[in-house]
Amino acid sequence: MKTIRVLLADSNQENREYLLKILEGDTDIDVIAEVSQGGEVLEMVAQAKPEVLIIDVSISEQDSLGLASYIHMHHPMTQVILVSDYEDLNLLKRAMQAGVKEIFIRPLIINEVINRVKQITQDYRKKADSKSDNKNDSRPEVVHVSKQDMVLQTSKIVTVFGNKGGIGKSIIASNLAVAAALKHPNDVALVDLDLQFGDISLMMNINPRKTIAELMQESGELTADLVDEYFYERSGAKILSAPHKPELGELVTSFGVETVLKICRQMYSYTIVDTPTFLDDTTLTALEMSDVVLLLISLDIPTIKNIKKGIDILESLKMLPRTKLILNRSSSLSVGLEPQDVEQVLGMKITASIPSDFKITVSSVNRGTPFLNMSPKAPISRSLIDLFEMIEKEK
Ligand SMILES: Nc1ncnc2c1ncn2[C@@H]1O[C@H](COP(=O)(O)OP(=O)(O)O)[C@@H](O)[C@H]1O
Ligand SMILES: [Mg+2]
Repeated sequence: MKTIRVLLADSNQENREYLLKILEGDTDIDVIAEVSQGGEVLEMVAQAKPEVLIIDVSISEQDSLGLASYIHMHHPMTQVILVSDYEDLNLLKRAMQAGVKEIFIRPLIINEVINRVKQITQDYRKKADSKSDNKNDSRPEVVHVSKQDMVLQTSKIVTVFGNKGGIGKSIIASNLAVAAALKHPNDVALVDLDLQFGDISLMMNINPRKTIAELMQESGELTADLVDEYFYERSGAKILSAPHKPELGELVTSFGVETVLKICRQMYSYTIVDTPTFLDDTTLTALEMSDVVLLLISLDIPTIKNIKKGIDILESLKMLPRTKLILNRSSSLSVGLEPQDVEQVLGMKITASIPSDFKITVSSVNRGTPFLNMSPKAPISRSLIDLFEMIEKEK
């Protein structure tokens, strides 16, 4: 048998070494590389083109199944096998949807691992051979994805957060989505998670028949096609609205939010999430799933006091490394506080500033038109385009 090229991905060194020992005991299997971080997997798959990827479910904090599904679609010659510490029906279902070929539950059984790796490879080789016979080509089709494409195609969830009302979360989230959609039309989602008082629909001039509350009442499992029906398109961004009435917010569970955001991750390159002023379970879920958290501040003492609590929460979620401090209304008359003072008090640098523009923001909200569409050249609009570019460049 032609040697089977296997890539191992597991953040736990002991587990990785154990699996390596099992696989290397078989002469037909060659472990070509090992990676210990979720972020390295795609690059290795694209470069080394392994036939089999064995990946631990917990390697990617974000979503190893999203990764599996991406590999299934874009690198079909790599067969994915998951390893998990426990059996879970839901995991099994989602793994099947992501095109995963097998799930091994620890403790691993040596013969089972070896046999399945061989079986899966043989099945794929047979399929690829019969395809290439038809095409009169001796090798299976290889989909080439350049590194740049890969970066572009890796999806990001960006949550706009700030535990103070009126700080500008919704207006920034909606205009950021428009800025993202300028560069990535129809590849940006905007999800309103202010489940009680969400006003993204108003800001984007949507009168939604279907909101996230109705979506939660769908029977059966949520699929990408179904979720897609709940999005409304505005300015190239796809928007999922908050419930019509505050009490309907209760229909939305953390699990529901997790599912919706995972589907967004598969369908869109960028998902922008607006959040309420108070921290609830669903907001926590969104924060934990985010690649970037934009923490909004303004230059006044009550806000800074409040934001310190927000920072503590993000720290406890281990989300601080992914958090960017964004100063809104940066050009307002200051009340004695300077950006540098605030940076010192909070122990964080301000990453971007958004100037004040009451005229544009008020008329934009009243008209239900994002200011980025109304006045694309205004400094406030430019600041959002810059902010998006910064997010785009972030690894
Ligand atoms: N940079 C800004 N310049 C002027 N007004 C702003 C700015 N950012 C926000 N606002 C105003 O503040 C109000 C509250 O903004 P909003 O996005 O609804 O806050 P949040 O969602 O945090 O409660 C809005 O009416 C908006 O017009
Ligand atoms: Mg809001």
